Amino acid sequence: MSHAEDHEGTRRDFLYYATAGAGAVTAGAVIWPLVNQMNPSADVQAMSSIRVDVSGVETGTQITVKFLGKPVFIRRRTEKEIEEGRAVEMSELVDTNARNVNKGADVPATDENRTMDEAGEWLVMMGVCTHLGCVPLGNNSGDYDGWFCPCHGSHYDTAGRIRKGPAPENLPVPVAEFVDETTIKLG
Ligand code: FES
Repeated sequence: MSHAEDHEGTRRDFLYYATAGAGAVTAGAVIWPLVNQMNPSADVQAMSSIRVDVSGVETGTQITVKFLGKPVFIRRRTEKEIEEGRAVEMSELVDTNARNVNKGADVPATDENRTMDEAGEWLVMMGVCTHLGCVPLGNNSGDYDGWFCPCHGSHYDTAGRIRKGPAPENLPVPVAEFVDETTIKLG
């Protein structure tokens, strides 16, 4: 699959976000172009965190938001996806590090250590393949029901962990937290 098709997938995600999540990203992302012209420190401040309204994200779907110039996937996982992710043994993983800055370094890549909430419903991670930086396709793509990077064939599971292909690491989880029931703050 080509880069163009890959981008198409991302565009669709953005479109979904723009229509279903009207006004979803507040502060930073929206006002950035304006403050960018004003002064650099305000620019940096505005970009350093965004709030994303996830109230419109249905189970089994994901949105893609742009944060610090890169796509971030926010997925609301199904029971099946959670079960699949939790059934995986550490010995089956290519990268056993959770790659979740919210949990600290050297934390094992269990499904629980990858998600935002205890129930494992919310998964937030950078949408950038750890091989050479393409944007993986989501919505149960690839051999492990998660994400698939068409550039060179990397397969990620339902927790965004690399399982097959040239990518060396799990998709990293950025600084993220729920600030209320339906709002995720990135950064
Ligand atoms: S960039 Fe994703 S597999 Fe190479």
